[in-house]
Amino acid sequence: MTSQIIPVEPFDFIVFGGTGDLAERKLLPSLYHRQHAGQFSEPTRIIGASRSKMSDDEFRAFARKAIAEHVKPEDTVGEQVERFLARLSYVSVDAKTGEGFSRLKKAIGSNEAIRVFYLAVAPALFGDIAGNLQEHGLVSPNSRIVVEKPIGRDLESARALNDQIGAVFDEQQIFRIDHYLGKETVQNLMALRFANALYEPLWNSAHIDHVQITVAETVGLEDRVTYYDKAGALRDMVQNHILQLLCLVAMEAPGSMEADSVRDEKLKVLRSLKRVNGAEAPRSTVRGQYRAGASSGGAVKGYIEELGNGQSNTETFVAIKAEIANWRWAGVPFYLRTGKRLASRVSEIVIEFKPIPHSIFDENAGNISANQLVIRLQPDEGVKQWIMIKDPGPGGMRLRQIALDMSFAESFQERNPDAYERLIMDVVRGNQTLFMRRDEVEAAWKWIDPILGAWEDSRQEAQGYTAGTWGPSASIALIERDGRTWHESD
Ligand code: BG6
Repeated sequence: MTSQIIPVEPFDFIVFGGTGDLAERKLLPSLYHRQHAGQFSEPTRIIGASRSKMSDDEFRAFARKAIAEHVKPEDTVGEQVERFLARLSYVSVDAKTGEGFSRLKKAIGSNEAIRVFYLAVAPALFGDIAGNLQEHGLVSPNSRIVVEKPIGRDLESARALNDQIGAVFDEQQIFRIDHYLGKETVQNLMALRFANALYEPLWNSAHIDHVQITVAETVGLEDRVTYYDKAGALRDMVQNHILQLLCLVAMEAPGSMEADSVRDEKLKVLRSLKRVNGAEAPRSTVRGQYRAGASSGGAVKGYIEELGNGQSNTETFVAIKAEIANWRWAGVPFYLRTGKRLASRVSEIVIEFKPIPHSIFDENAGNISANQLVIRLQPDEGVKQWIMIKDPGPGGMRLRQIALDMSFAESFQERNPDAYERLIMDVVRGNQTLFMRRDEVEAAWKWIDPILGAWEDSRQEAQGYTAGTWGPSASIALIERDGRTWHESD
């Protein structure tokens, strides 16, 4: 199967934080891939902007290295890399003082093409950059601004950031990225639900027992000490990625894939989440922090040692029993968990259906397990539908569970594009379906804030777990107390 590439109109892509980690690992390689796929129209330009002093050639050397390190060699043959580097230029700017913005204006010139301002910088600079863009007359009707999480650290700070950006750009021009929404399998969740007649009639509390969402990582702190220790897993992963996944599982069918149609439905889910109050928090939430152990086959340090400065109660693991108070989901718990330095890297959504109402088989048939639909987001993307069958051969009617297994990797031989590729092209097209609207971000914080508050008030400690395990034992208890168990990923 070949994919269909629809070229986008020519655009200027201005990346603030152009020499940073995100630009190196994701943005430049993703842009390169889209050029390579033939999606660019000419003239398309990429302008790096950051505080460092750098010449165009030095920025090109930076991009060349980024491509060499993050794009497979077979995709860099021929003239493609040189063509890509020829689009690049660099301007040194200081967001705080405004120094350099006139140079940026000169570099862009009177070009009226689509203009994407990508803010791969700390949120503290969002307001300054937006203000400088406005002051220097750089915001054209054809401009869009892209901002990365974290959008705030609570509702109040999120509102302040949204106000700062909103003072310069219309909501239709603001693209709040959650890269999970660009993942192929996350989009597949919508295809599975709304392009098949099979599941939707069963997708409710009459047929579904509970839902599990796991985003497990094996990495630890990496180089993000300052950010991560202030954020923790609840802000870093649950407020955005996990709640977005929950929304896609739980939302009503939108009228269309049009941006506001989808986002209206997600917003309703966020607003229906049952608030976790102070008294419930210790029972329905678990905080964990990894201790020394083994990960990916080697010994690894504990969080505190990695941090290198003594003490911290920041959680690197969180599990929550969430409930959605609406007709479709009343009584169906959503068990959420995410953590660093866990036993394996796996992100998946498990929909567990209710048991059959009555068994016609005798005890020799064995246990009849409830059907499970397992949507594997990464790695080994695919969908498994677990069903009961008769064990083949003689021996009477013995039943066993097997998976109808659909691996996307095996079915589609093409390279799985990085989430950023899809999302950047959507920004250029002006399609906001896979981006978070202001009210969504704020509704997510409205649910997160009371949990943060409850943890603080009750001084709920992050419980230690050994690196390379599935988190603190309290997380097992959280689900087993309800007579259920975490799905074991294979
Ligand atoms: C980021 C978080 O948003 O997502 C990181 O800040 C996390 O802490 C990352 O590691 C996970 O993304 P992915 O695509 O590797 O699952």
